[in-house]
Amino acid sequence: MSQSPDLPIEVRGSARLPLGMSPARFLRNYWQKRPLLIRNAFPDFQLPLQPEDLAGLACEDGALSRLIVHDAKLDRWRVKSGPLDEAEFGKTPDTDWTLLVQDVDKWDADVAQLLEHFRFLPSWRMDDIMISYAEPGGGVGAHVDQYDVFLLQALGQRHWAISDDPHAPKAFRPDIELKQLAHFEPTHEWLLEPGDMLYLPPNLAHDGVAFGGPCMTISVGMRAPSQAELTGDLADYLAERLSDEQRYADPDLVPAKAAGEIDKATITRLKNSLPFAAALDEDGLRDWFGGFITRYRNAQTPAPLGKPLTEPVLRKKLADGAQLLRHPWSRLAWTRGRNGCTLFACGQGYPASADIATRLCEQRTLTPTDTLDANDIALLLALVNDGHLLPRKPRRR
Ligand code: SIN
Ligand code: CO
Repeated sequence: MSQSPDLPIEVRGSARLPLGMSPARFLRNYWQKRPLLIRNAFPDFQLPLQPEDLAGLACEDGALSRLIVHDAKLDRWRVKSGPLDEAEFGKTPDTDWTLLVQDVDKWDADVAQLLEHFRFLPSWRMDDIMISYAEPGGGVGAHVDQYDVFLLQALGQRHWAISDDPHAPKAFRPDIELKQLAHFEPTHEWLLEPGDMLYLPPNLAHDGVAFGGPCMTISVGMRAPSQAELTGDLADYLAERLSDEQRYADPDLVPAKAAGEIDKATITRLKNSLPFAAALDEDGLRDWFGGFITRYRNAQTPAPLGKPLTEPVLRKKLADGAQLLRHPWSRLAWTRGRNGCTLFACGQGYPASADIATRLCEQRTLTPTDTLDANDIALLLALVNDGHLLPRKPRRR
């Protein structure tokens, strides 16, 4: 994402050109590609909402708000989610805290009016206008957002640090719910004044801290559904339109070679009949189908043991001649993948050898033999503890 000299990271806007360039040029060169600071994007910017109004909104039922206080000495963060109590604001320290309220455009017509300046974007790409109020030092810490955002400085000053290094680590700090970055090395830093605006594409690390006095920042945030959300919804949409007669079909079936195996011919049939199959490689398809078909229409599923057996106890039972009875609700199938075989039981996958998987699918009652190795025992133990196999004492004559 490095900045080329022809594509400056900082430009100056005007009333006529809030982006400092035409929307077409901005979209071509910056949108979803690289950050841009626009000084004076909104000349003589007028605050559409006072800090007290924002605090009032944060106390409303149904408004999404968060109060974030940073104990800078101990580097501890406290987050209180709204609706907030008015009394909360009496307890805030003099510095290092911020209040964030989402969807302010839905509550305030003057704030919603700001969206007019973003008409060059499809309106359905727009998520919300979030507004923050912060005392000096206040912010949410270094993080990345999944969406494009325009950060318009509305009141006071904010120090922004960003990193456009594509190799910057993106791991989160494990200790806090704010999904802050564990490591953050800025490549650019600026102090923004009212009317300045910073555009950030998705996944770009940034950290904004209120500087000098009270600070308000207006975030115009976009939305972009994940591939997973799109796929899930499209699958539901397609599913509703497919008739019940359109079913898994195998007129080309030949006698099964190994009991329970989801074989190559099955995968080929799935590939040829499912619109989504192309999104998965063969291992992915096998993994999905193994889980699906062993979960499909199961009215009940075996319950895991309340008190799991240990391996020595299971070994002892087997040595004493115990047999393993498959739970009647346990539906099994297995696949051969690139990294070995997987046995599926009611949707759950377990690493298995082809031999033991076949035996488990074939035999309702498994009589353990000397050929079981340590991996087989580990599998049997997992299946016993998950309730799929029930150890039974041998019948005495
Ligand atoms: C803010 O604190 O106003 C901005 C939050 C963000 O960086 O997304
Ligand atoms: Co952000």
